[in-house]
Amino acid sequence: MPQPSSARLHEFRVVSNDKIADDTYALVIEAPALAAAIKPGQFMNFEVPGNAMSLLRIPLSYARADADAGTVEIWYAVVGEGTERLSQMRPGDTSTVLGPGGHGWSVPEGCSRALLVGGGIGVPPLVPLAEQLHAQGIEFDVCLGAKTATAGVGSSELDALGAHVIEIATDDGTDGYHGFVTDPAAKLLDEKRYDYVATCGPSVMMSKVAESAAKAGAYCEASLERMMSCGFGACSTCNVETTEGMKGACMCGPVFDASKVVVW
Ligand SMILES: Cc1cc2nc3c(=O)[nH]c(=O)nc-3n(C[C@H](O)[C@H](O)[C@H](O)COP(=O)(O)OP(=O)(O)OC[C@H]3O[C@@H](n4cnc5c(N)ncnc54)[C@H](O)[C@@H]3O)c2cc1C
Ligand code: FES
Repeated sequence: MPQPSSARLHEFRVVSNDKIADDTYALVIEAPALAAAIKPGQFMNFEVPGNAMSLLRIPLSYARADADAGTVEIWYAVVGEGTERLSQMRPGDTSTVLGPGGHGWSVPEGCSRALLVGGGIGVPPLVPLAEQLHAQGIEFDVCLGAKTATAGVGSSELDALGAHVIEIATDDGTDGYHGFVTDPAAKLLDEKRYDYVATCGPSVMMSKVAESAAKAGAYCEASLERMMSCGFGACSTCNVETTEGMKGACMCGPVFDASKVVVW
């Protein structure tokens, strides 16, 4: 386990917090030291004011960081009490965030083409990865899955970052392919050669993407979601069973070599 954690406590101020899709918001915070330090695939742990009984922070990835402006942008889905409170934060509100946590994506040396596969609210950490690939001149394709057209996020941002191909899939067929995003991803992996596959989304989706990538001989990384109580290696609530034993997602992940994940 890498020690010590790179996470530090930062005060932040809300710049904006706007709805961008069904039950999904884009939160922009001002936190200059965090914006300068965070790397693609890392996460932050948010203290959300408004409930004295709630002791746990909320782990969230980031979609964009602007070191010059000192801002970090997070896309989050309202799924429970904590994210509901987060959606009520207004411009000017302040709190603290612990980050950057864990380690992010590791694009292999010599990679010339990558495939990014995101499902639901798993898309955000793929956006800074796409920005990195674009800056390195690495061609990349994207497959994005959502329940329905109005729930999807990220396609315009990934398009603007130079995605070569963007395949959309929706469970109800209201946009793109009617079905799971794992199908267009498997098709692309059959048709083209990729050196690297990065995936984030529901566990079952990631395990299928990992299977298709392994079949195609492409190195695959997955960003795993676990309950996280501390976010810096002290509590073991975030364990992931791997071929090398139990590893804490907050320190050894959240991004893992997919071929080593035993329990998704
Ligand atoms: C490294 C990491 C990065 C994440 N990035 C994002 C992101 O960018 N955007 C986003 O919308 N969500 C992200 N999540 C998930 C987010 O942390 C949970 O949705 C959030 O903690 C739910 O809090 P709540 O109080 O609203 O819900 P609760 O009332 O606590 O729970 C509602 C539901 O969410 C599940 N849940 C609660 N906490 C977590 C958790 N830590 N991980 C997975 N499921 C959880 C519960 O089991 C329950 O089903 C990330 C999680 C991790 C571990
Ligand atoms: S969240 Fe506490 S050890 Fe990972």
